[in-house]
Amino acid sequence: MKLFSIFAFTLLLWTGCSSGKLSPEEQDKYVRQGQDITKEVGMIMTSALTKSLNDGGVARAAQYCSYIAIPLVDTLAVRHGVQIRRTSTKLRNAKNDTPTERELAVLEQYARQKEAGKELQPLVEAIDPNTVAYYQPIFVQPMCLNCHGVEGETLTEDNYTIIKYMYPKDEATGYKIDDLRGIWSLTMPRESTE
Ligand code: HEC
Repeated sequence: MKLFSIFAFTLLLWTGCSSGKLSPEEQDKYVRQGQDITKEVGMIMTSALTKSLNDGGVARAAQYCSYIAIPLVDTLAVRHGVQIRRTSTKLRNAKNDTPTERELAVLEQYARQKEAGKELQPLVEAIDPNTVAYYQPIFVQPMCLNCHGVEGETLTEDNYTIIKYMYPKDEATGYKIDDLRGIWSLTMPRESTE
């Protein structure tokens, strides 16, 4: 009997570890951690974009986005010890931002939930015993339309020409306010719970 319980306990531990399921406490903790990071990164990007849009229009801001904002986000990622990505089903930068299989599944799940009128929640899951993934939807705000709006309407021909020149394969236009633009995808270290 004793031997059986040791066996059962070991099995439980083993399956618990290999599936890497997060406890409810861990879920709360990593959702909060993810939200804090995306809030900080989002604020930096939005304020920098708004400032450079005001200073030099889309020509300046689009350059800002690729040459300055990306290293800035990388610096933040290093400081927090996490990996930070943005991805989407309609990409502007297919080189950096192509979704992984799992990210694509999350994007599709969010799109279905939005279609059904549900409120989209952040998601956390264990990738392996030492790593947690965090996903959060990104919605279109008025400012985004300058570069991701409807061509010839909210996205002017002149601005679209600049974007097309920088990203010839751009697909990330045609959006309206509150549309699902994509997701934040973070990879965070999982702290030992022992
Ligand atoms: C000044 C133009 C500009 C504005 C304004 C802008 N973006 Fe972008 N966006 C870009 C560029 C350029 C890229 C590609 C950056 C790169 O090279 O990785 C991009 C990439 C993205 C991506 C990554 C996925 C992809 O398509 O490559 C997301 C998500 C995104 N933008 C969302 C937004 C949101 C949300 C807003 C508003 C809060 C916004 N953008 C405002 C120009 C802009």
